[in-house]
Amino acid sequence: MEGVYVSQHPLVQHKLTLLRNKKTNSTQFRQLVRELAILLAYEATEDLDLAPVTVQTPMGETEGFEVREAIGLVPILRAGLGMVNGVWEMMPSAEVWHIGLYRDERTLRPVEYYNKLPVDPRVQVCLVLDPMLATGGSAVATVSLLKEWGARRIKFVGLIAAPEGIAALRDAHPDVPIHLAAVDERLNDIGFIVPGLGDAGDRQFGTG
Ligand code: PRP
Repeated sequence: MEGVYVSQHPLVQHKLTLLRNKKTNSTQFRQLVRELAILLAYEATEDLDLAPVTVQTPMGETEGFEVREAIGLVPILRAGLGMVNGVWEMMPSAEVWHIGLYRDERTLRPVEYYNKLPVDPRVQVCLVLDPMLATGGSAVATVSLLKEWGARRIKFVGLIAAPEGIAALRDAHPDVPIHLAAVDERLNDIGFIVPGLGDAGDRQFGTG
């Protein structure tokens, strides 16, 4: 589907399979989320603008490049938190803005409880980080919030999506590319992705 990029990288598929395994413990789970986030963010940032710069090597002068665009990482709390640190190490000048949303268990609608956006957007590209795109409600609300605030180029980086979540995000925000490790079969009647990996927040933080 247009605008949806599912990584075919062997390391992504290998690590995703370990992540799904119910025998994977919290420590391993956190490490895998971190590694998968790095690999997916690497693919999601392949179109960043570069500016030419001159660099002095110990042997002389040559032309090089630097990334021209400032990047904002926007983890959706809680589960998105585990995707921040690895990506941040790859792009240490990025700013990190936290958005707190939880899903009301009855309505499955996102409820905002925390928003730490600065007054004005200071970056050119925002990467929204959340392992799970289930109904899509959390991602749609986060992107709407970023757009109202003034962000222009926004990308969603997740691990597993249900077709329903992809459709909802594409429908509400067709300009936002979606980067994933997998698209699963469906949502179950309590809004969990099947086969999925269970609850990404609980499995990272040991609260299941
Ligand atoms: C989960 C997940 C996403 C959201 C996805 O969060 O981490 O943020 O649900 O569902 P949606 O696409 O239907 O909106 P949850 O509400 O369980 O909160 P948590 O991250 O704090 O555990």
